[in-house]
Amino acid sequence: VRERYANVQKDLQELLSGISIIKAFSREKHTAIRMVRSTKEAVRKEVKLNILSALAGISSTVISAAGPLVLIWYGCAEIMRGYLTVGGLVAFNSFIRYLFGPTQALMNINFSVQRSLAACQRIFEMLDLQPEVKEKKEAVEPGRLKGDVVLQDVSFSYDSGDRILDGVSLRARPGQIVALVGTSGVGKTTLVSLIPRFYDPEQGRVLIDGTDIRDMRLRSLRDNIGIVSQETFLFSSTVRENIRFGRLGATDQEVTEAARLAQAHEFITRLPEGYDTQIGERGVKLSGGQRQRIAIARAILRNPSILILDEATSNLDSESERAIQQALRPLMKNRTTFVIAHRLSTVLDADKIVVLDGGKVVAQGKHSELYQSCPVYRRLYDEQFLNPRIEEEIPIQQQPSASEVTPVESVEEFDHGYLLSLEE
Ligand SMILES: Nc1ncnc2c1ncn2[C@@H]1O[C@H](COP(=O)(O)OP(=O)(O)OP(=O)(O)O)[C@@H](O)[C@H]1O
Ligand SMILES: [Mg+2]
Repeated sequence: VRERYANVQKDLQELLSGISIIKAFSREKHTAIRMVRSTKEAVRKEVKLNILSALAGISSTVISAAGPLVLIWYGCAEIMRGYLTVGGLVAFNSFIRYLFGPTQALMNINFSVQRSLAACQRIFEMLDLQPEVKEKKEAVEPGRLKGDVVLQDVSFSYDSGDRILDGVSLRARPGQIVALVGTSGVGKTTLVSLIPRFYDPEQGRVLIDGTDIRDMRLRSLRDNIGIVSQETFLFSSTVRENIRFGRLGATDQEVTEAARLAQAHEFITRLPEGYDTQIGERGVKLSGGQRQRIAIARAILRNPSILILDEATSNLDSESERAIQQALRPLMKNRTTFVIAHRLSTVLDADKIVVLDGGKVVAQGKHSELYQSCPVYRRLYDEQFLNPRIEEEIPIQQQPSASEVTPVESVEEFDHGYLLSLEE
């Protein structure tokens, strides 16, 4: 039972940490069914065990109870004094026995009930949680979207207070690649999570193909959107199932095809059991680049009209980097793509770069224009994208002197930039 519980807990933990992926792919039901199955089994066993242990507990207590002894001792004395007949004692004794068991049982039950109530309370608290976004009753079925995405004067803050987005407006036309750039923590991930309605804006609205996304069926909206997120989330399951998560009805052949396009087929076939290899906590560990390619395959399989790529901040070796770049190309074709750029090639490929700073869009345009006209972009570009990696072989003493690096306004900024480049 313990073991089963551990499994349930692991599944649950995994489910909770993967919840946005589950939502993004509208797989709530599928995942819930899986969860219910694994919980049911554990609960059944647990109940059995509890009944058995309760029974055992009761009988042992009753047997060992000193009550009857005391009763007989006292009863005998009474008989000798003539206040009680032997028959009376025997009858009384057997009646009292009837009482012992149930009393004990009631106490035990009370104990279990108390324990269960505590657990129930927590469960109901969870169940009572209101979803952050609600679907309107009269929501429309948008069908396949073209992917004309407009953010109109959107403001947003998390419950914690600070305004993360402040009057953001931007447009991505069907098929365009829009790159979002800005310092870490500026709100890029937050901005793109408004598109699949993980959150609703406080002010302003998000339109797709001219319709406010709050008027669309949530599921159909999300069916149109594919996400490759900053941290790839894979379930403890086979490679095949992880890819198939993008579209549950997909055939094995379609899964393989998607993996091929995502440059993942080759390394998958080299795994011990190919597509049937278990990955995740209980199975083979994959590298960051391999995980990302599986996530890309998942998104390719989904064939969304809007694609959100939150590029990983972690640096990959140049070979994986190239493989991923290649994997992304077929994925971005003919889709509206929002890409949170951390790679040089991404910003250069984009149809439009949107620069975020202090919760606002400070500039939009092509790389060459922005580099001329937008100081925020220029600094980001020089620091994040252009920054030549400091090779490990170069001893620290040979670091460039302050005059050789991009001019910076303060010592703190210089340190920050330098430390970042060292991390790379
Ligand atoms: N779920 C959340 N609840 C509360 N605050 C959050 C949440 N997610 C992000 N934030 C805060 O919102 C701000 C913007 O975060 P966000 O993840 O959008 O940044 P980002 O631009 O994607 O950064 P990075 O480039 O490092 O990924 C940060 O200050 C962050 O601490
Ligand atoms: Mg982010």
